[in-house]
Amino acid sequence: MNSLKGKVVIITGAASERGMGRATALKMASEGANVIVSDKLKNDDVGPVQDVVDQILSEGGSAFGLGLDVTNDIDIKNLVDQVLTKYGRIDVLFNNAGVPAGVGDFLNLDERDWRLAFDVHVFGMVKLIKAVLPHMIEQGGGVIVNNASTAGLAGLAQFSGYGASKFAVVGLTKHLAAEYGSHSIRINCVCPGMIDTAMSDIEVSGFMKDHNVDRETAIKELSMLVPLGKYGDPAEVADAVVFLASDKSKYITGIALPVAGGMSAGL
Ligand SMILES: NC(=O)c1ccc[n+]([C@@H]2O[C@H](COP(=O)([O-])OP(=O)(O)OC[C@H]3O[C@@H](n4cnc5c(N)ncnc54)[C@H](O)[C@@H]3O)[C@@H](O)[C@H]2O)c1
Repeated sequence: MNSLKGKVVIITGAASERGMGRATALKMASEGANVIVSDKLKNDDVGPVQDVVDQILSEGGSAFGLGLDVTNDIDIKNLVDQVLTKYGRIDVLFNNAGVPAGVGDFLNLDERDWRLAFDVHVFGMVKLIKAVLPHMIEQGGGVIVNNASTAGLAGLAQFSGYGASKFAVVGLTKHLAAEYGSHSIRINCVCPGMIDTAMSDIEVSGFMKDHNVDRETAIKELSMLVPLGKYGDPAEVADAVVFLASDKSKYITGIALPVAGGMSAGL
């Protein structure tokens, strides 16, 4: 339970109640990390972020939380300043924040959909990575894990904007891994498939509407797309992120790891 003992870890998009960011924050804290729980605040309400921090503290872990919109340069500078002031280093960055943007019939997607998908998934990551890399270089190493998607590995109807942005995340991961390996910085991404979170609820609701079925039937039918026959649990993605963040993967960089119950088996 100590694979991240003493590591200073930043996680974006970490407050969503059933999200992968939260699941990863809890798991990393249980592995001994000092976790910086961040998320975009709704109406300046820091409550959801604080909930995650409180849960970690109540389980004997170490964490602090703050609001961070990954598209906002001031938020990013504030985050990095606060983390460096408190801990003096940044060991791991998990770029997890995401939005269900760029999803739907390609002809109905407007420029705003495309821009939102790229602003959050691609430019948000670029900004955060640019902010932490100089410190990782100076301290002699670090780890970055990006949350991409199986939609960033293969084409999928109705996912053009979202999927194109996730292909960019996979590409960014590989190029930066090649560029910064010489600084002992490892950069990988996870590619979740169908994971049971608030984001995938949108897909389930769409299926219910399109096929006029109840939620249980929709989940059953959608699960048939997965070789392992079920939606993934956010904690199962968190396990993969912990592995990539820890020394257990110390000779692994530049990979896009599907965590998808076999959905990528045919690729
Ligand atoms: N759920 C799935 O099936 C699935 C599959 C593949 C990839 N993903 C990816 O996994 C990641 C986590 O998604 P999730 O399924 O846990 O969904 P989620 O909706 O539970 O979590 C997404 C989080 O990102 C945050 N966020 C959105 N915009 C932000 C911004 N501008 N700045 C900071 N935070 C922001 C949200 O507040 C939320 O906490 C996302 O990148 C998503 O694209 C999800």
